[in-house]
Amino acid sequence: MDGLKVVQTADGSSTLYSDRFNACYHSVNGALTESMHVFIKSGFEAILPNRHTIDLLEVGLGTCLNAALTAYAAEKYRVEVRYFGIELYPPSDDILYSTGYAEILEPECATLWGKIVKAPATEKVQISPWFSVFKIYADYTQWIPTESFDLIYFDAFAPDDQPEMWSLENFRKLFDALRPNGALVTYSAKGLVKQNLRDAGFSVERLQGPPGKRHMVRAWKTPVH
Ligand SMILES: C[S@@+](CC[C@H](N)C(=O)[O-])C[C@H]1O[C@@H](n2cnc3c(N)ncnc32)[C@H](O)[C@@H]1O
Repeated sequence: MDGLKVVQTADGSSTLYSDRFNACYHSVNGALTESMHVFIKSGFEAILPNRHTIDLLEVGLGTCLNAALTAYAAEKYRVEVRYFGIELYPPSDDILYSTGYAEILEPECATLWGKIVKAPATEKVQISPWFSVFKIYADYTQWIPTESFDLIYFDAFAPDDQPEMWSLENFRKLFDALRPNGALVTYSAKGLVKQNLRDAGFSVERLQGPPGKRHMVRAWKTPVH
C-alpha cells in the first residue's frame, strides 16, 4: 500500500515507514511521545500566552497525528487554530486507518483525527468549533506561501534522508511567512539545520529532545526594534 507500512514504536503507538524515503514518519522511540514533546509542548504550548487565534503551518502532514493532537489541544486551551498542512504524498485512507490511531488516541482526539483524515484538500474544513484544516497537496520545495503563520511544525524527513527540505532557501521562505514573535519547531538539532535557520534570520533555541534524542530546536522570529 503506497510503499508505506505500519511499524510499532516504543510507547505502544505506531507510525508509518516509507520505502520511498527509507525512513519512519516518527521516532521509533515513541511516535505519540515525540509528537507531544516536540510539537505540542515545545511549540503549541510555548506560543499560547496572550493568543486567541493561531495560524499554523505543518510541513509534512503525513498521518495527521500532529494535526489531531493540535485540534485536541485547541479545545483544551480554547484557542482558535487554523491549520495548514502541506503534503506531497498523502497516504491512502486504508494505510492511515491501519495505524490504529482511531483506537489508541483519547476518544475525543480520535474523533478529531478521523475528521481530519476525511477532510478534502484545497479547502478550509471546519473540524470543531476551535479547529479548521486546509490541506495543501503540493511540493513544499516549490510552494510559495500566500498566508502568514504564527507557528510552524517542521516535520520533514531527516536532513540526511531529504536534505533539500532543510535548505537555507526554504527556511528563508518560512521565515518570511512567519509573523513576528512566531516560532518554528522541529525534532532535528543537526548543526547544518541550526546554521541554515540562523542564516535565514531565526533566533535558534536548543531544547531537550524527546526520548532517544538529546536535543530538538525551537526557532523564533524575534521582532526587529
Ligand atoms: C516525517 S513525515 C511527517 C509525519 C507527520 N507530521 C505525521 O504526523 O504523521 C514527512 C512527510 O513529508 C512528506 N513529504 C516528503 N517530501 C515532501 C515534499 N517535497 N513536499 C511536501 N511533503 C513532503 C512525506 O510524504 C511525509 O508525509
